[in-house]
Amino acid sequence: MYKIQKICCIGAGYVGGPTMSVIAQKNPHIQVTVVDVNQQRINAWNSQNMDELPIYEPGLGEIVSQVRGRNLFFDTDVDRAIEEADMIFISVNTPTKTYGKGKGMAADLKYIELCARQIARVSKSSKIVVEKSTLPVRTAQAIKRILDQTGNGVEFQILSNPEFLAEGTAIKDLLEPDRVLIGGAETERGNEAIEALASLYRAWVPSDRILATNVWSSELSKLTANAFLAQRVSSINAISELCEVSGANVNEVARAIGTDTRIGNRFLKASVGFGGSCFQKDILNLVYIAQSYGLDEVAQYWEQVIIMNDHQKKRFSEKIVTTLFNTVSDKKIAFLGWAFKKDTNDTRESAAIYIANELIEEQASVHVYDPKVTQMQMLADLDYLNVRSCDINSERLIAHQEAYSAIEGAHAIAVLTEWDEFVCLDWKRIYQQMQKPAFVFDGRGILDQKELENIGFEVYTIGIG
Ligand code: NAD
Ligand code: UDX
Repeated sequence: MYKIQKICCIGAGYVGGPTMSVIAQKNPHIQVTVVDVNQQRINAWNSQNMDELPIYEPGLGEIVSQVRGRNLFFDTDVDRAIEEADMIFISVNTPTKTYGKGKGMAADLKYIELCARQIARVSKSSKIVVEKSTLPVRTAQAIKRILDQTGNGVEFQILSNPEFLAEGTAIKDLLEPDRVLIGGAETERGNEAIEALASLYRAWVPSDRILATNVWSSELSKLTANAFLAQRVSSINAISELCEVSGANVNEVARAIGTDTRIGNRFLKASVGFGGSCFQKDILNLVYIAQSYGLDEVAQYWEQVIIMNDHQKKRFSEKIVTTLFNTVSDKKIAFLGWAFKKDTNDTRESAAIYIANELIEEQASVHVYDPKVTQMQMLADLDYLNVRSCDINSERLIAHQEAYSAIEGAHAIAVLTEWDEFVCLDWKRIYQQMQKPAFVFDGRGILDQKELENIGFEVYTIGIG
């Protein structure tokens, strides 16, 4: 039987940081060390000021301040943490490949392989290696081969333990997960490894929510879960376009279908398009895997979820241009929100990036207010698209510290993130500050359209005909 006293997690990102904080909080007798090659990120995790943690998540600061230095540590000494650990979580990024075979589709597994080689080189005692990152089905086999063939002859058990948290609600999701999934080898030692990991979770998760399965099913379940969730968003977004032309209201349609218990009422909010670091990447990866097995219909089926999402973003920016008399050249467009959803500072794949890019192509001046995203991050997101020079981007995109200055003198407002505070703005004051006609494009359906129209705004809300 395994006895777990020390855990190491490689990768101090949006998953590694919150996940390990909760595991450490609930297992005070276990030492948890989160390591990363990014010194700046580790410094931020060690900051005394909880506002300076590298990621913003409601409730995270409280847990970190409670457990950091007790049994939770953030460090850059990856070798030492691996060597000392009984169980190693790999929680590094697995982005879409930007080069070579599978470019733009496959998951880039170079960081995973680097971790496996480092674990193999450093380990002098047997270890349980846990895949926390989202990985293509059968990655565990590659990790196992690297560990066994380049290691020092010690035993390795590989587990798949995908993370289902959503950003913005990560702490709640970790504290009350719908389920914890653990895939392991169907052998006696495999079962012992599963049991060792399950016992950590049992410190707070009811046993019946801890599901054990084989490794391949576990790996594939994670990609499948994200594909199903994203598919729901694309499905309701497809209907939103139909609502707009037919005079229906997407919220009413969502309410009507959501009461069917077979469909359920969650994840039916029409939007300007899904963003985030997971949905697009994981679906592209699923499509690539299906193609690799020659399953063309399967690949095309899932690819449509991405096509629909790209269309939703594109038609929103086009709507702004056509409504503003077919030109936004040198007009001020105010963005409320840049993050891919509320309650996070993460901007990866945020719809706002693509919409800003399209409007800047049309020579608009984009002024953004987001409560948690810096101007540096916004510009980095735009520059990453590699469409125009960084100088032009910084001339055309200006961040503001508060909403009213972003809106002052604007021709139009686009709501791109559903931050609660946007609903409570003084919309009468905003109307007075704006050019007339004063347009509002609500890409999140959070504002009261009737109320705004009564003030004098011309309002477009996603999915409302
Ligand atoms: P992230 O980019 O925030 O963090 C990854 C960290 O790993 C980075 O800080 C990077 O410096 C570090 N890293 C990379 N290679 C390393 C190495 N060899 N040694 C040490 N550190 C290394 O990524 P994330 O959002 O935390 O996602 C991590 C994984 O979890 C991905 O596979 C992702 O698909 C999956 N996932 C993410 C979420 C989410 O909401 N972000 C949810 C579920 C699953
Ligand atoms: C997702 C999965 O939900 C989570 O289980 C997985 O571990 C990681 O990927 P995340 O991307 O953090 O989590 O957030 P999520 O709440 O899923 O939202 C993703 C995107 O879809 C956001 O841009 C959100 O605004 C959008 N969305 C979500 C909608 O447009 N409508 C909805 O009804 C739900």
